[in-house]
Amino acid sequence: NNTFSGESRRQNLIVLDELGSTNDYLKSELANFKPLPEWSAIMARHQTAGRGQRDSTWTVEPNSNLTFSFVLYPDYLNLQDHFTLNMLISLGIHDWLISKGITPEIKWPNDILINQKKVCGILIENKSAGMKIKQSVVGIGVNVNQKQFFDGLENTASSLFKETGITTENLEEECLNLLAFLQNRIENFKNKKLTTNDLLKTYNNFLFLRDKPARYASSDITFQAILRKVDANGQLYLEQSDGIKTYFFKEVRFL
Ligand code: BTN
Repeated sequence: NNTFSGESRRQNLIVLDELGSTNDYLKSELANFKPLPEWSAIMARHQTAGRGQRDSTWTVEPNSNLTFSFVLYPDYLNLQDHFTLNMLISLGIHDWLISKGITPEIKWPNDILINQKKVCGILIENKSAGMKIKQSVVGIGVNVNQKQFFDGLENTASSLFKETGITTENLEEECLNLLAFLQNRIENFKNKKLTTNDLLKTYNNFLFLRDKPARYASSDITFQAILRKVDANGQLYLEQSDGIKTYFFKEVRFL
């Protein structure tokens, strides 16, 4: 659906100057039974204890980037379909960047790259009840105006500014804009205009390193493989000399 222009419906967004982690903030509100409606969102202008995937940290220049989180209650998803939520979020961000004339790639499972450098990371933390995902806190960090990266990060990370020359004046407005693209993706999925297969097709079309040889690590071995696709369970299909093997998120990483 490329016709969406990004108008936001009324959005409940709180903006704070400084906060440890926007994911932790929402998780603790929810743990204290605060009745947060779906899409309640919190943005920090300076996030001091940002968390990333695989227990990493997310540290970016203050007041230059987007660091925000929001709440979803995706009872329309079974626990086993958690990768669908992953795709919805990655593709919503992808749509937002496309609307700016940028052509990003998606690095499995959910980094967004421009010119092969990471500009956006996603941390989805789910709570399940029975076979359903009861609650998700979705955290997104986008490097927007940051001009410099240090400690070797300049080779792998970048920002919208560095890749396009565009400066974003109003980060709060941009956050609302991105949220609107995410809402559009999720609404279209909920009302069945988009199926999991549609998402999978688009996701695979934009997949970084697809059909290209690269090096991977699994347990304590490293190997060369060609990434062929990602399936609905979020498994990576890696072709090696002895055939195609599949890997879940915890089982493999890019080198
Ligand atoms: C990753 O690529 O490893 C995921 C990074 C996720 C960072 C965002 S910034 C807003 C939200 N709050 C956090 O503590 N982390 C996420």
